[in-house]
Amino acid sequence: AWAKAVGERELLLAAPRSFCAGVERAIETVERALERFGAPVYVRRQIVHNRHVVNDLERRGAVFVEELDAVPEGNLVVLAAHGVAPAVRRQADERHLRVIDATCPLVAKVHHEVRRYAARDTTVVLIGHPDHEEVIGTIGEAPEHVIVVSNPAEAENVHIPDPANVGYAMQTTLAVEEAAETAAVLRRRFPALTGPRTDDICYATSNRQAGVREIAAQSDLVIVLGSQNSSNSKRLAEVAEAAGTRAVLVDDAGELELALLAGAKRIGITAGASAPPELVDNLIRCLSGLGPVSVTENGTLTEDVRFALPKEVSQP
Ligand code: F3S
Repeated sequence: AWAKAVGERELLLAAPRSFCAGVERAIETVERALERFGAPVYVRRQIVHNRHVVNDLERRGAVFVEELDAVPEGNLVVLAAHGVAPAVRRQADERHLRVIDATCPLVAKVHHEVRRYAARDTTVVLIGHPDHEEVIGTIGEAPEHVIVVSNPAEAENVHIPDPANVGYAMQTTLAVEEAAETAAVLRRRFPALTGPRTDDICYATSNRQAGVREIAAQSDLVIVLGSQNSSNSKRLAEVAEAAGTRAVLVDDAGELELALLAGAKRIGITAGASAPPELVDNLIRCLSGLGPVSVTENGTLTEDVRFALPKEVSQP
């Protein structure tokens, strides 16, 4: 009855949304490994931070483990998109595991920066969330050289042993604006600060945030599809809220509390970089089951980034 009361509901789809190139590559790596080498294919940690992706690959024979000691000696293991500390690679060698590395090339780039700083004995301020898997992996490149700060306030207070020899790097999936503020504090406090030549926050993160900001301004409610442990998905909900719009992060349409929809005539929809596009189609189907909807695609920004697959699954 309330569907009638609000009339036709407008669904505004953010662009771009859903899978990024790094996530597509990581998922395809596991799929191809299953085809080529057969099940089980072990995967260290969630290949990407999405429950649907993990469940689907599990059904097809992937076995997700927390640590490599759960992988029988000599087996094949895929390393997840978030990257790992060098210690994990050493452990893989010790256990004679065959490794296929699905680390996103844009995460690998940040690892490379940290190694370069460390080689010059430069302290690296890593802007990021200290308990996120990506950050843990990046710290592992040079634990004695890296100091993590997660926001501008921490940047105000961070102690650097030699303020003339300091650089910074970033987690790839941060909130663009807050990270820029944090970097600005560091730059003010440490004029000698050096930084990455191109942004560490990846194209997919910044494009999805720009996309959701646009639809948030025109929506009564923003629905973000993504898992709770997905950093970039969480940031999308925060960006929408910062624009003054209510936002929810849900794994799928089934998790949505219908009460939230009451009075929401224009609903913005986006999906994190690790969330499959089918989830958006599903959500639209569910919402249209509740009453008439119109669907509008917002923006025209398209992405054409593709990454080559790891050689173990791409070479003939
Ligand atoms: Fe890579 Fe960015 Fe996706 S770092 S995995 S392209 S969110």
